[in-house]
Amino acid sequence: MFPASLIWGTVVILCCCFWFLLGKRRRRSGEPPLENGLLPYLGCALQFGANPLEFLRARQKRYGCVFTCKVAGKYIHFLTDPFSYHSLIRHGKHLDWKKFHFAASAKAFGHGSIDPNDGKTSEDFHHTFIKTLQGNALNPLIETMMENLQYVMLQSSTSKLHPNDWITDKLHAFCSRVMFEAGFLTFFGTELNSNHDENLSKQEMERARILNALENFKEFDKIFPALVAGLPIHMFKNAHSARAKLEQELLHEKLYKRDNISELVTLRMFLNDTLSTFDDKEKAKTHVVILWASQSNTIPATFWSLFHIIRNPEAMKAATEEVKNTLEDAGEKISLDGKYISLNRKQLDNMPVLDSIIKEAIRLSSASMTVRVAKEDFTLCLENDSYNIRKNDIVALYPQLMHFDPEIYADPLIFKYDRFLNENGEEKTAFYHSGRKLRHYYMPFGAGIAKCPGRLFAVHEIKQFLTLVLSYFEMEFVDNDVACPSLDQSRAGLGILPPGNDIDFRYRLKCP
Ligand code: HEM
Repeated sequence: MFPASLIWGTVVILCCCFWFLLGKRRRRSGEPPLENGLLPYLGCALQFGANPLEFLRARQKRYGCVFTCKVAGKYIHFLTDPFSYHSLIRHGKHLDWKKFHFAASAKAFGHGSIDPNDGKTSEDFHHTFIKTLQGNALNPLIETMMENLQYVMLQSSTSKLHPNDWITDKLHAFCSRVMFEAGFLTFFGTELNSNHDENLSKQEMERARILNALENFKEFDKIFPALVAGLPIHMFKNAHSARAKLEQELLHEKLYKRDNISELVTLRMFLNDTLSTFDDKEKAKTHVVILWASQSNTIPATFWSLFHIIRNPEAMKAATEEVKNTLEDAGEKISLDGKYISLNRKQLDNMPVLDSIIKEAIRLSSASMTVRVAKEDFTLCLENDSYNIRKNDIVALYPQLMHFDPEIYADPLIFKYDRFLNENGEEKTAFYHSGRKLRHYYMPFGAGIAKCPGRLFAVHEIKQFLTLVLSYFEMEFVDNDVACPSLDQSRAGLGILPPGNDIDFRYRLKCP
């Protein structure tokens, strides 16, 4: 009798040999250089996942600007030359952006297929997003957010705020609380009859529910990368129950009891009811998608913007001055007697210093990956070369390579508050590589048709947040020489990376 371990060992070795001889893809002529990785199925997944930026830089050095890696069963062709980014948009006819998004969304949120071809809904989700987050629809969103931010910063936590008294807090926790509560109220409205001014205990109950939703959001968000990678949510008991609680909160029957719901959520409820065969739970899951999309990147982007402002006296001075001038020009005055300040979209659009600060903070922390799936075999034509791509392969961009390229951004790891300002103090749009002007130099929101539909709202809400904290509060770090936290790489590929650790800071009301 052979011991069982010997038999199993032989089976594993034979499988590896078969994989090596038959399962490994061989590079065909006209295709980019190929790295299969050492592990069956996973390929290079573990090395890529550990640090995508370092992984891609090393391959770029070895193979040149275009190369293919096997990652978790998929063949991904990486385009790393920023001059080739536009070709991804030009080849839209051969490349599908929806397939990957739809599949990732269904895996992470657990709803049925949102691909109209599969027959569960005929809603064009992307169209709904564009229609309700951009153009004229942006104005009421901005207006409501400005009010909600002040309510959350000043009123919702009034008990703690007294002029001259410092409050010590964690910066990321503070940004998460304020942005989550204000964003939640802006998209999903307020409970009927719980006006901001009336009925305090109802208000407090509403606040407790939203902060509870924030805890569930954080629990679910922690394992989001694992879900996108294909692991089933059942493996994560706490996150599973947290997602179910978020769904409970966003059931249509609960939403009908809320007032001032955004156009996005109102329209989505109508389309869920009229164009889909989703059951109540699945409808709620599609709203969890909106909650996650509207918060997961905005919260860390807000943290990094405020962190760099507090850490850089020059940035603090320029930002405070711009905020002061904007309020003066708008005839707005800070007061602590319950009258909120308001700035319209045009006034917010005319704040180039805050724009530059937000862009720079996002440049330093963004690690999104733009992904397209080949609909058929085709030839990808770049400026000087062309490559054959096989059906169902993935073509991908990893813009962090460009954001950290010292040829484009001198001292790329240093925060420079005015990096995106030209000599006239206006938005700078001329960035160069190899002496040539770049068309794409800043890409945290994706590219082409699939570009983030919420990007305009995101920048406005962060700008509103900064305007308000700079107007109402004095802020400082507990440790004056605080080091810049590292980027938490566990979310690499998905958007803005949160800090590896939180930062102690204190704030107090400015006396007007
Ligand atoms: C700093 C903040 C944000 C960043 C960096 C960001 C980034 C992104 C990226 C990279 C994508 C994928 C684009 C692609 O595949 O090419 C995306 C998609 C999306 N984002 Fe954002 N986003 C932000 C804020 C927001 C906000 C505030 C909303 C509001 C609801 C939002 C809604 C969405 C939606 C709905 C999609 C999916 C679009 C679709 O599949 O049609 N995002 N975002």
